[in-house]
Amino acid sequence: MQAHLVRLALPEDCSGILEIYNHAVLNTTASYDTEPRSLEHRRQWFEDHAKANLPIYVAEDGGGRVIGWSALNRFHDRVGYRFTAENSVYVAHDARGRGVGGTLLRPLIEAARERQLHAILAVIDAQNEPSIRLHSRQGFFQVGLFRQVGFKFDRWLDVVYMEHLLAAT
Ligand SMILES: CC(C)(COP(=O)(O)OP(=O)(O)OC[C@H]1O[C@@H](n2cnc3c(N)ncnc32)[C@H](O)[C@@H]1OP(=O)(O)O)[C@@H](O)C(=O)NCCC(=O)NCCS
Repeated sequence: MQAHLVRLALPEDCSGILEIYNHAVLNTTASYDTEPRSLEHRRQWFEDHAKANLPIYVAEDGGGRVIGWSALNRFHDRVGYRFTAENSVYVAHDARGRGVGGTLLRPLIEAARERQLHAILAVIDAQNEPSIRLHSRQGFFQVGLFRQVGFKFDRWLDVVYMEHLLAAT
């Protein structure tokens, strides 16, 4: 594996985070967004995370380039869901398959514990084998399958819900 470090994201990482996300939007079904997002939208997202004390991590290669990112997101606005978060993890297309995703997911789980969260949900396209394997390896179990709830690239998409129950590990 090429050397990289994982650290908390800074506001100036937003453009690197956006580039990775928009590439996935345009080329994969990892996200069901169909249009690229703007830098302004990503900066607002960063601020909202900071205000809500929700962590964002980036992986940086030896040259200082952002090659991946991960975040905990609010799962639902209703107060009863406050101990549950949803996660995101994205690795640059030319840095995948080298274990970077694992190094981005691990600190999220620790951050969730520190915040006394109870559960993390991962919402994953059912054909996204790398993501399902990545989450399985880190203590997530499939708890749901929703058939044909997404539509992108002219086809219906199934979604898998995986859950990591923090108290159980
Ligand atoms: C999913 C993703 C974050 C995984 O990150 P990564 O750094 O590539 O992860 P790893 O190198 O640790 O590989 C994860 C697992 O997928 C497997 N894998 C990698 N590429 C694969 C492929 N093309 N097909 C099947 N499995 C694959 C790896 O072997 C590994 O499984 P293992 O631990 O059982 O050996 C990354 O591929 C990515 O960013 N994809 C696009 C965005 C995305 O799907 N995000 C998740 C949304 S839910």
